Amino acid sequence: MTEGTRPGAGLLAGKIVLVVGGSTGIGADAARLFAEEGASVMLAARSRDVLADLTAELTEAGHDVAATAGDVSVAADVARFVDATLDRFGRLDGAFNNAGINQQGRLDDVSEDDFDRVMAVNVKGTWLCLREEIHAMRHSGGSIVNTSSIGGYRGNTGLGAYQATKHAVIGLTRTAAHDNGPLGIRVNAIAPGPTETPMLTAWRQNDPDAVAARLNAVPLRKAGTTTEVAEAAAWLLSDRAGQVSGVVLPVDGGLTA
Ligand code: NAI
Repeated sequence: MTEGTRPGAGLLAGKIVLVVGGSTGIGADAARLFAEEGASVMLAARSRDVLADLTAELTEAGHDVAATAGDVSVAADVARFVDATLDRFGRLDGAFNNAGINQQGRLDDVSEDDFDRVMAVNVKGTWLCLREEIHAMRHSGGSIVNTSSIGGYRGNTGLGAYQATKHAVIGLTRTAAHDNGPLGIRVNAIAPGPTETPMLTAWRQNDPDAVAARLNAVPLRKAGTTTEVAEAAAWLLSDRAGQVSGVVLPVDGGLTA
């Protein structure tokens, strides 16, 4: 049994974890949780200033955290996310590929530019992360968690091409699990339902009736918290999920049950 699996030790004790999309919302609370569970954390996201604030907060709390800013849809930036992790911490044990943007409106109203952008961030970005992380883990093994959505396995009204991107994240996850299992690399996805984040706040402002109807359909009758979503990712990243690979774990209050 390794240190990380000993009951009483932090779930991620001694792990080096990269959180891409780790500046706000689910990613920021994941970084807080992973650090509390004993991980050293590299944060990556677009905003240098927001990352600096979160790094300061976690460092002051006694955690081992660093950050690097960049765009997940740019190959050189993603390579730098992983290189910075290796330079700072010496290896990569886990990665949470959580960067994503939303897109609202009917599919037939989506502009070509908007379609290309959501594909670039959510799909190409996830693939770039997987590519670089797998290269870093191929001799040591590791665990990767991608953020899909319940929109990744069903349709929904008014979410444009977003739903398609989250289907693609599941496809990337399953393929990567098959390809890399023999290397000791587990690859899983989480599929959050409605979660209390700036993304949900924006959707609520844009279409309050749709959000209210959605929450009414959730068996637990509430949106998830960012920490509840992060808990699922933490478990999948940990050694306690050692035989779990290629799954898509709903974190949705039973909405898709
Ligand atoms: P958020 O907007 O608070 O966080 C998104 C994160 O991704 C931020 O750290 C942001 O800087 C980063 N990011 C966005 N574009 C980027 C880019 N081009 N390069 C680098 N980083 C970039 O949103 P939230 O809600 O925390 O979403 C996180 C993930 O969860 C997303 O993948 C989203 O699709 C997914 N999700 C969210 C749900 C919700 O109800 N909020 C439900 C299901 C899935």
